[in-house]
Amino acid sequence: MATSNIERALRKNERGAVALSFDVYEVRKQFPVLQREIDGNPLVYLDNAATTQKPQAVIDALVSYYSNNNSNVHRGAHILADEATRLYEAARDSVAGFVNAFSRKEVIWTSGTTEAINIVANGAKQLLSPGDEVMVTQMEHHANLVTWQQVCKHSGATLKVVPINDDGELVVEQFHQMLSDNTKFVAMPHISNALGTINPIEELIPAAKAKGAWVLIDGAQGIAHGVVDVQALGCDFYAFSGHKFFAPTGIGALWGKEDVLKDWPVWQTGGEMISEVSYEDASWGELPNRLEAGTPNIAGAIGLGAAVEWFKQFDIDAVKAHEEAIMQYAVEKAKAFPGFIIKGNAKNKIGVLSFLLEGGHPADIGFLLDKQGVAIRTGDHCAQPLMNRLGVPGTARASFSMYTTKEEIDALFDALKKVQMMLM
Ligand code: ALA
Repeated sequence: MATSNIERALRKNERGAVALSFDVYEVRKQFPVLQREIDGNPLVYLDNAATTQKPQAVIDALVSYYSNNNSNVHRGAHILADEATRLYEAARDSVAGFVNAFSRKEVIWTSGTTEAINIVANGAKQLLSPGDEVMVTQMEHHANLVTWQQVCKHSGATLKVVPINDDGELVVEQFHQMLSDNTKFVAMPHISNALGTINPIEELIPAAKAKGAWVLIDGAQGIAHGVVDVQALGCDFYAFSGHKFFAPTGIGALWGKEDVLKDWPVWQTGGEMISEVSYEDASWGELPNRLEAGTPNIAGAIGLGAAVEWFKQFDIDAVKAHEEAIMQYAVEKAKAFPGFIIKGNAKNKIGVLSFLLEGGHPADIGFLLDKQGVAIRTGDHCAQPLMNRLGVPGTARASFSMYTTKEEIDALFDALKKVQMMLM
């Protein structure tokens, strides 16, 4: 797992193209909250799959917008409206460039991944009918499972669930076998939030497209752990949240192919998304506005644009190599730790360590770690069926980011030793 990106970065280095330079301690200085202490202990923030912390550059963008430019967008006949609109639309350009969209019209602002999936599902409800099939996986977050369950209940389509193996990897052969001429939609995660598994979507998307299915990728975790290139992926939709990518909460995006989005059933109706309105009827505007009713989260969009611009300063291969080295270090420590059971051992995974500790309930582990300044998440991770598949009620989950250090991993395991002593 770790070697691939390190090797890639080093190979690039030999060619002199990219320097393998990443100083995690310098990066951390840009995150004010990481300087905090909790009850006298340095904060060890290992809940990054839930939300990442925000760099000063993003915080500054929000403060600057509200201090200098606050206005509604696309509407006002004044300078503030013009400035706010420019900042807001520049953020769309940043996001479009970051995911390599064909065009800026393909980026629809949403409140996050969940709303992005719901926009697509709302259309699918109207477009699918009995006999059609929708494929999801056993590792779905509820946002991408319940939503498609509802689509199937309303349209009469059949939901098919692709299994995973005991390591938490998708059974790729089953995926191919379950695809049929009736498959109209494949909706799956790029990366599992609960296990960290990276799905081989580069292989799966073309197979689904060959059957004529629409493909939606839940990129909630994918967006922060590698460069997403929607043109190369070939999916129809890629949904993600800003807050898992160093940006504020309440903002995210749906990327969709222009050809698909331009006729997709509208989601909400109201201001901004219309073309002509009479007392009897209305017609819809052009992309991206036709799927963006009402006053948007302007500051959030500007914050997400700022996060993209901030992130672009880093050599992505070096960031990935750091994250992989941290994960490898954590796994080595976990394997040497008595009674530590890792849930999710995919060969290809990001820095998510979902685990059980013999003799300890995940909720107690989370509580006792918190008392030592170590922040993790415990529970079902919004993936109850996945927990059932794994035969556990929930797990404790430590999730890492580009700013996680080896010292923090040491702190996690030192704190776990104390937890173990308290529980035994
Ligand atoms: N989906 C988020 C998580 O995995 C909230 O924690």
